[in-house]
Amino acid sequence: MEDNKKIKGFSKLSKRGKIKWIVENFFKDPENVTREMLSYWHSNEDQQKILDGFSENTISNFPMPYGVAPNFEINGKTYCVPMVIEESSVVAAASSAAKYWMSRGGFKTEIISTTKLGQVSFKWSGPGEALKANFPRIKEKLIKECKHITANMEKRGGGILDIELIDLSDKEKDLFQLKCSFETCDSMGANFINSCLEQFANSLSSFVSNEKSLKDGKLNVIMCILSNYTPDCIVRATVECKIEDLSEFPGGMSADVFAGRFKDAVTIAHLDEYRAATHNKGIFNGVDAVVLATGNDFRAIEACGHTYAARNGSYTSLSYCTIDDGVFKFWLDLPLAVGTVGGLTSLHPMAKRSLELLGNPNSQELMEIIAATGLAQNFAALRSLVTTGIQKGHMKMHLQNILVSLNATEKEIHKAAEYFKEKVVSFSAVREFLEKLRSGKQIIA
Ligand code: MEV
Repeated sequence: MEDNKKIKGFSKLSKRGKIKWIVENFFKDPENVTREMLSYWHSNEDQQKILDGFSENTISNFPMPYGVAPNFEINGKTYCVPMVIEESSVVAAASSAAKYWMSRGGFKTEIISTTKLGQVSFKWSGPGEALKANFPRIKEKLIKECKHITANMEKRGGGILDIELIDLSDKEKDLFQLKCSFETCDSMGANFINSCLEQFANSLSSFVSNEKSLKDGKLNVIMCILSNYTPDCIVRATVECKIEDLSEFPGGMSADVFAGRFKDAVTIAHLDEYRAATHNKGIFNGVDAVVLATGNDFRAIEACGHTYAARNGSYTSLSYCTIDDGVFKFWLDLPLAVGTVGGLTSLHPMAKRSLELLGNPNSQELMEIIAATGLAQNFAALRSLVTTGIQKGHMKMHLQNILVSLNATEKEIHKAAEYFKEKVVSFSAVREFLEKLRSGKQIIA
């Protein structure tokens, strides 16, 4: 690597110092880039300090669109759902599916479970049986010595649910784990869980060094960390109605034909992992957008969702569809470890506003809203795929983006929308259209 691309002590530079070094060494047009970087700084210094506090080596902000999908009726309550996403059509699709189901009974959701997990991985070089025999006393000590961490959570109705000893020594010599389950109430619980796990490791070490029956072995704690896979923190979101109430679809497609094609589309996502990945991606378009808007950890949610989708040994659809006795039912089971207190939820000014927009839900209600949005997104995508095809809607939004990037006026945007109604949209085609329009040349439709 060239030497001017390396630096020592970068983190010690001021923000302006960092920008100066970056623009001088990585960009062709330092002045313009500096201006652009600075233009995204928050005009309010205090707000900027809050944003800078979330990360390290910050030099600017990266704006993302903040949209809302109104008319989400979930368990009889109406929500306007905040969504942070950069992909065209996602918010429009969620809004359209929400409106569609609003007149067909809305979304019904159900919390199946809320257990979070963590693991202490360690090597035990002594007799496994002795460790197992001592485990009831070990567990008691672990829970007792963790009281200073769990006391507040217990007041809120949460705490440690269980600690199991898992013997993995048949897979890897001497390897054991403590599999620990927790109820973390309205917090996602990462800090709480990790603190408990580290305390468990200390208590385990102290038990082993003081217990005569374990003196022939050696304990070596490898790591303590929560698991982002929470298959027992599940929410279900469902929509259902009589087939005839599905109404008619574009191109005169009947409700019957639609329902059959829709169910086939879900079946394909159950059978084929190539389709399952795209199908679930559509679900996460909605899920991630709300997760992000409410200051939750979308990487954790994705990691968990995809692991859950592969829980039976092959990657499959997270949603299901049945047609029984003339009733169309479509639902989604999703593991969602989210919080409405702690972390970014109360620190990020817009995350706070998102939660306020949703009526300050508790974590279970937020799970329900997120799952309903994921299901709406999945419904909208499949509805397009099995009727008009996805490109029609996408291209409309794509056209808008191209027009904006080419500085089109309102009048030009209107003319382009008419012209491209039945035509293939591409950047060059739109540019050519605008050039002709601007030079007064005749445009042949
Ligand atoms: C695009 O972001 C999402 C879709 O591909 C989802 C799907 O195919 O179901 C439209």
